[in-house]
Amino acid sequence: MVDAAQAYNEHAEEWSLRLASGNNHAHSLLEKPAMASLLPDLSGKKILAIGCGSGEELALLLYKRARQADIVGIDVSEGLIATAGNNYPEATFHVCPMEDLSRFADQSFDTVYSSLTMHYAEQWQPILTEVKRVLKPGGNYLFSTHHPIKWGSLVSRTPSEDTFTMGYIRPKAGEPTVHGDYLGTRRIDDVWFGNMTVSYYHRPLGAIMADILASGLRIRAFVEPPPVPQAVNIAPGFHTIHSKIPLFMIFDLVSDE
Ligand SMILES: C[S@@+](CC[C@H](N)C(=O)[O-])C[C@H]1O[C@@H](n2cnc3c(N)ncnc32)[C@H](O)[C@@H]1O
Repeated sequence: MVDAAQAYNEHAEEWSLRLASGNNHAHSLLEKPAMASLLPDLSGKKILAIGCGSGEELALLLYKRARQADIVGIDVSEGLIATAGNNYPEATFHVCPMEDLSRFADQSFDTVYSSLTMHYAEQWQPILTEVKRVLKPGGNYLFSTHHPIKWGSLVSRTPSEDTFTMGYIRPKAGEPTVHGDYLGTRRIDDVWFGNMTVSYYHRPLGAIMADILASGLRIRAFVEPPPVPQAVNIAPGFHTIHSKIPLFMIFDLVSDE
């Protein structure tokens, strides 16, 4: 298993450069536009960005919807937090795990925002409970995470191709072959970009829904975003795949109390 802080610290510089380049299609052509479309007007609001990394979403929060907002970013990677602090001096950053929000007072944020970080947590319920505690009444938790259909697939990576399969072959005679494991909650050890070893957690939607229901947060929106239309020209293969197979999913949860 590779600790997320270790993985992102070891690759902090290349991760920041990759995201800043705009060539990470999963972010630039799918996840960030979808998250932006779900953001309320954040002017003058207090926002907590969980797992803010090098601050890629800070650009989105600060300049698209949140002028004069008070933004606090947290992440476990010291290297990424240092980059975020240099890039976005308007915001405040802390090296802090999402599992421990005790430095923040009850009902202190209008919006908690998190891009692609929840899947690093083995347990969601303590995090959702803490997020609810720090949200003001009527505040929301907008987060994106791995879609279990894609990330629970059987993965095979070779120098010439990556294969992701979820399904089964049932011969008329003989034993079935099953590819992937949707229902099994488990840790997955993976290698991204050829050299970045990461561990994350797969859980089916049923387990996710159970944690959300137990937290008392209300689901206001659930989105399985496709790529933006211009992806068909910029990254046609990415567009072909992810117009059919979801890569991420987005929840917008509200604290009614
Ligand atoms: C895929 S990156 C996303 C970074 C950023 N949100 C973005 O969209 O560009 C995941 C981030 O989650 C952070 N992370 C992983 N586990 C964490 C935890 N337990 N608490 C806080 N941050 C964590 C990593 O250090 C990394 O910066």
